[in-house]
Formats: sequence, C-alpha cells, structure tokens
Amino acid sequence: MKVALIGGTGGFGMALAVRLREAGYAVVIGSRDAERAAAAAAELGVAGATNEEAARDADLVVLTTKADGAVETARSLRDAIGTTPVLSVAAELSFTKGGVYPTSEPTSVAQRVQAVIDGPVVAALHSLAAANLGGEVAPDEDTLVCGDDAAAKAIVLELAGAVTSGRAIDAGPLASARALEGMTAVIVNVNKRYKAHAGLRVTGIH
Ligand SMILES: NC(=O)c1ccc[n+]([C@@H]2O[C@H](COP(=O)([O-])OP(=O)(O)OC[C@H]3O[C@@H](n4cnc5c(N)ncnc54)[C@H](OP(=O)(O)O)[C@@H]3O)[C@@H](O)[C@H]2O)c1
Repeated sequence: MKVALIGGTGGFGMALAVRLREAGYAVVIGSRDAERAAAAAAELGVAGATNEEAARDADLVVLTTKADGAVETARSLRDAIGTTPVLSVAAELSFTKGGVYPTSEPTSVAQRVQAVIDGPVVAALHSLAAANLGGEVAPDEDTLVCGDDAAAKAIVLELAGAVTSGRAIDAGPLASARALEGMTAVIVNVNKRYKAHAGLRVTGIH
C-alpha cells in the first residue's frame, strides 16, 4: 500500500514515515516544495514528491501538515485526492499562559476536511507524540480511530496497529474526531505538567 504524507517534512510526518517504512508500507513524503520533499525523503530512504504528486498516486493520503494548514491543503488537493481515503491527524491547539486549549471552531478539523474533499476521511493518531512515534521501537500506546466509511476505517485501523505496539481501537463515527482532537490539548497539558510524552492506554477491552 502506498501512503502519501502530505506536509510529511515536519516532525510528525518524518516519525510516521519511519514506522510505516519499517512496517513495509511504500511511503511518499510530500511537501509544498519539491526540493524539501526530496531532501526529507533521502534522509529516510523513502520517496519524495510535491504534495499534489504524492496525493495523486496514493492508496491512502495522510494530512501531516501543520494543523492550521490541513483544511486549506485538503481543499487545494481535492482533484489530486479524488476518492482516495484520507487520514486526518491534526488537532488545532491554542497555547496560552493558562494552558493549552482545543480549537474554538464548532467542528473538528477532520469534519471540515471531509466537507472539502470527495474521499472518505478517517481521524486517528492524534495522541501519538512524534517523539514516541519516531523512537527506536514502535510506541506501546493505544490509538483511537474514527470515521464514517467502513472500508477507509479498516485501512487506518490496520495502519495504526502497524505503527504502534498497542491496540488500534474503533472509536465510532467521524463525529468522535472532535473529542480525539480535544484530547490532544489534554495530553499536551499533561506533558507540560509532568515533562513527559504521555500516550493513551484504554482499559476494559478484551
Ligand atoms: N508533533 C506531534 O507530536 C503530533 C502528534 C500527533 C499529531 N500531530 C499532528 O500532525 C500534524 C503535523 O505536526 P508537526 O508537528 O509535524 O507539524 P509542523 O512540523 O509544524 O508542520 C509539518 C509540515 O507542514 C507543512 N506546512 C507548514 N505550514 C503549512 C501551511 N500553512 N499549509 C500547508 N502546509 C504547511 C510544512 O511542510 P512543507 O513546508 O515541506 O510543505 C511542515 O514541514 C499536525 O496536524 C499535528 O496536529 C502532531
């Protein structure tokens, strides 16, 4: 399976690329700038391309741009993405003196992405810190996956299970993305308080 990491030149995209490569996925790092994509790809021994080229040729498109750029990037790639499934990992956060807050937008990034593209959107991986994901071994954390399209969600559940040594858990419809994105603010607050890279572990599932 070929996975395009749109804006994959950042910390999260590069960490995800490492795990996907190890799990046997074909990875293409995308960038707004072809040279930046090529340099990042060469560092990891994977392919690099512009965001548009990467999206056009993928079986799964992962939006790993800076969170604030995810919706506009998806809109600009609408034709290139077509009906290919899209994974949204973004959480819009505001950093204030009093702490980290989730977006004040009424809907999740994932739902706003779904509104501007034709392919089915799945949301996942928000709770995986790049520092953990890009470590020596796959992080021992659970991941929560939500989406409305069963086939697209199955692809992402498999991917999430391949990049962690924890469990990939079906967390229901795409509407759950609002909670998953909000949970990122909670985790970042925990990280700041305890100087940690916290992750999630869900109990009670057998
Ligand atoms: N960092 C984490 O631990 C973590 C954990 C879970 C989820 N996430 C999510 O993963 C995503 C990426 O996080 P990150 O920390 O890797 O982000 P980042 O380093 O800030 O940005 C990633 C890439 O986005 C591209 N970019 C920047 N501004 C853009 C814009 N306005 N429009 C389009 N592309 C833009 C840049 O690539 P080019 O300049 O090469 O195009 C940049 O290298 C975010 O949505 C974040 O919420 C992050």
